[in-house]
Amino acid sequence: MTARLALLASLLLLLQLVPPSSAVVLELHGNVYPIGHFFVTMNISDPAKPYFLDIDTGSTLTWLQCDYPCINCNKAHSLFYPRLIGSFVPHGLYKPELKYAVKCTEQRCADLYADLRKPMKCGPKNQCHYGIQYVGGSSIGVLIVDSFSLPASNGTNPTSIAFGCGYNQGKNNHNVPTPVNGILGLGRGKVTLLSQLKSQGVITKHVLGHCISSKGKGFLFFGDAKVPTSGVTWSPMNR
Ligand SMILES: *[C@@H]1O[C@H](CO)[C@@H](O)[C@H](O)[C@H]1NC(C)=O
Ligand SMILES: *[C@@H]1O[C@H](CO)[C@@H](O)[C@H](O)[C@H]1NC(C)=O
Repeated sequence: MTARLALLASLLLLLQLVPPSSAVVLELHGNVYPIGHFFVTMNISDPAKPYFLDIDTGSTLTWLQCDYPCINCNKAHSLFYPRLIGSFVPHGLYKPELKYAVKCTEQRCADLYADLRKPMKCGPKNQCHYGIQYVGGSSIGVLIVDSFSLPASNGTNPTSIAFGCGYNQGKNNHNVPTPVNGILGLGRGKVTLLSQLKSQGVITKHVLGHCISSKGKGFLFFGDAKVPTSGVTWSPMNR
């Protein structure tokens, strides 16, 4: 009896030690200077198109500049190309399917307001409108759902993700054109890309990491990725 229990216990232990694992690993483009941004390419919508997203650990919502129509969007990407980023091409504004706008009665909208620490407020047409303040500007948008095709270790399958369609960007202090199409929010929250990838089983662990080279470029991972054991300097996370 005890032998059987011991066998069962070791089998369970073994199962726990080798769970199926899945991660998403993305290349980071950019550098500190002269570009001043680190960003990833993500294939979004159906048919999928590539967009550049600025990585930001200080905010939670991922959003794209969006033709809602756009009241004030940064269309100056081409100023950056090809001088600074070489072969990268600018991408047009994301065009949303308004039938996929999240209703303000949905739990996701309440969760977004909780992430933004703002009282719930329903926008026009019962849609989930939001406003975010950044150090260098602001963004107004509407929460929407579309598919993200991310390179996961268990296959690149389109996954439905709620994200922001930003249709009105407040000017930042310096009014500099940026090379990106939106923001990838890496902070802790419920309506983050990371939380949604975890709840949909695309990644097996609610973990993210990024590795940035002092010479520019690097990588970003979500989930259970293998981290190099040498050549890496660890930094503590700030809340
Ligand atoms: C985006 O899609 C293109 C075309 O299928 C593919 O070559 C590229 O690797 C994808 N990029 C990412 C980051 O998923
Ligand atoms: C792999 O991907 C599929 C489809 O996105 C998902 O349903 C599944 O749970 C994923 N994870 C693992 C570990 O197989």
